[in-house]
Amino acid sequence: METHVVDHPLVSHKLTTLRDVRTDSPTFRRLADELVTLLAYEATRDVRVTEVTVETPLTPTQGVRLSRPTPLVVPILRAGLGMLDGMMRLLPTAEVGFLGMIRNEKTLEASTYATRLPDDLSGRQCFVLDPMLATGGTLAAAIQFLFSRGAVDVTALCLLAAPEGIAHLDSVFRDSGHPIKLVTAGLDERLNDQGYILPGLGDAGDRLYGVA
Ligand code: URA
Repeated sequence: METHVVDHPLVSHKLTTLRDVRTDSPTFRRLADELVTLLAYEATRDVRVTEVTVETPLTPTQGVRLSRPTPLVVPILRAGLGMLDGMMRLLPTAEVGFLGMIRNEKTLEASTYATRLPDDLSGRQCFVLDPMLATGGTLAAAIQFLFSRGAVDVTALCLLAAPEGIAHLDSVFRDSGHPIKLVTAGLDERLNDQGYILPGLGDAGDRLYGVA
């Protein structure tokens, strides 16, 4: 898997404030939104485009427009919703599919409780939004689901990633024959015994929405 840790002072600045335990939910939501837009810029570097001719007020010239089918953005509920607006700001014509997944806090296994996605994802570039790549179980299950519907090209956007999660995705998808890309604002040290990323930022869903 190709992992891209975005190295930019604005990304580091916003991530630092997200980590701060004193940051309240409204500020956390705003910063997460801004941070995702910066990640989206990197994550869409290989978005497919088609060459077109455009008329300027002076002359025709060559340019590009996003190819069809349009990309699909897939926030993983609930915390991935906090990343949706920041992504759609850069890809306003993308379609959005929803995957509801929850992780059992004892076994850390992911299970799917809701899906609202096109049946046929063949040829679609998919951008999965999940703030915290911890054990990797949830993201791996989400990506498997997209591949099972014919997606060919998946990029995951995470605010933070743990080495354990990256290793898990690598082992699950190494021989899948499909390219997976991960774009993240930070690669942290490790997971604690409860599967939280250290140093991390705590529970992303709770910090975004304030309820457990
Ligand atoms: N999910 C979170 O919200 N935070 C973590 O640190 C790990 C998983």
